[in-house]
Amino acid sequence: MTLPRIRILATGGTIAGSASSATDATGYRAGTASVDELIASVPALRELADLSGEQFGQLDSSDLTDALLLDLARRVQQLVDDPWVDGVVVTHGTDTLEETAYLLHLVLSTEKPVVLVGAMRPATALSADGPRNLFAAVTVAVSPATLGRGVLVVLDDEVHTARDVTKTTSLGVHAFASPYGPLGVVTDGRVAFYRSVDRPHTARTEFGIPEALPRSAVLFAHTGLDAASVEALDGVDVIVHAGFGNGTVSARLVDALDAARARGALVVRASRVGSGTLTVVGASADAANRWVAADDQNPQRARLLGALALTVTRDPAEVQRIFHTY
Ligand code: SIN
Repeated sequence: MTLPRIRILATGGTIAGSASSATDATGYRAGTASVDELIASVPALRELADLSGEQFGQLDSSDLTDALLLDLARRVQQLVDDPWVDGVVVTHGTDTLEETAYLLHLVLSTEKPVVLVGAMRPATALSADGPRNLFAAVTVAVSPATLGRGVLVVLDDEVHTARDVTKTTSLGVHAFASPYGPLGVVTDGRVAFYRSVDRPHTARTEFGIPEALPRSAVLFAHTGLDAASVEALDGVDVIVHAGFGNGTVSARLVDALDAARARGALVVRASRVGSGTLTVVGASADAANRWVAADDQNPQRARLLGALALTVTRDPAEVQRIFHTY
C-alpha cells in the first residue's frame, strides 16, 4: 500500500524546544531540535505517512514577522502545488500559531491538507506533548476527510479551524480553543470531524499571497488610554482598536482615530473581551467615522484580515464586506 506523502515543515517553537532538565517546562529555548529529530521522536509516524522533513526556521514564534509569514506561505504553496506532496504539516510555536494559521487559511490556494501543530512542553520535558500532537497532526493530514477544510490546527487531540482558534491559556497542554468548538477530535490514530466551516478559505478566497503586507498595529484599549497613543501610530496603514465590550472606543480617541482614517489608514474596531460579534454601528458610530467592525475576529486576526483587505481594496465599505465574508 502506498502511504500519503506528507512534508513536515519545521519553524521552531516549544515543540522543538529543549531545557536542561526534564522537570523544567518553562525555562527552555524554543526551536533547538531539528525537523529530523522531531520525526525520529515518533517512530509510529512512519506507519501513517511517507514523510519528509524540511527546516524552514528554528524560531521562537514571537520573532516571526509579516515578511517571514509571507515567505512561509510561499513555501507551503509551492509544496501543495507539487503533485508528489499530499499534505503539509507545519510545526510552530504556540504563541503566534493562530496568526500564521489564519494567514495561510486566507491566502493558500489548495484543497490539500495543511495542518499546524505545536506543543506547550519542550521536547525534553516529562510528558512532553509534542510527539503526541505531531502524531495527531499527521493523522489529520493523511485523512481523506481533511481535504478542502482549509488550514487546521491540531493540539491536545482536537482539530480546530484556523478561522476561529486561539490560544487561551499561558501554560498547560489544553491551551487552544475555538469559540464555536473544535471541528473534530483525534482518537487512537483516527480523526473524526463533527462540523465544517461555512466562511470561505484557501482556494475560495479573493486573496493571493501578496509581495508584502501593509504596516499594521493593534491598540489595546484600557482606562486612560489617550489620543497620543493613536497619534504615535502615524505611518501605520491598519490600526486595529481592541476596544471595550462591543468594540467601544473612548470619546478621547475618536478624533485621533478619525484623523488616522482621513490620512488613509484603515481603522478596524475589534474587542478586547475575547469572544462575540461586533455590531457595525455600535457605541462608536463606525458608519459615520468610516471605521470597520471586525465581526467576530479577535484583534490579532483582525489585523491580518485588515492588512490583506488593503491588498485588494481601500474602500472601507468593501473592507467591511470582507470582514463579514471571511
Ligand atoms: C513559541 O511560540 O515559539 C514559544 C512558545 C511555544 O511554542 O509554546
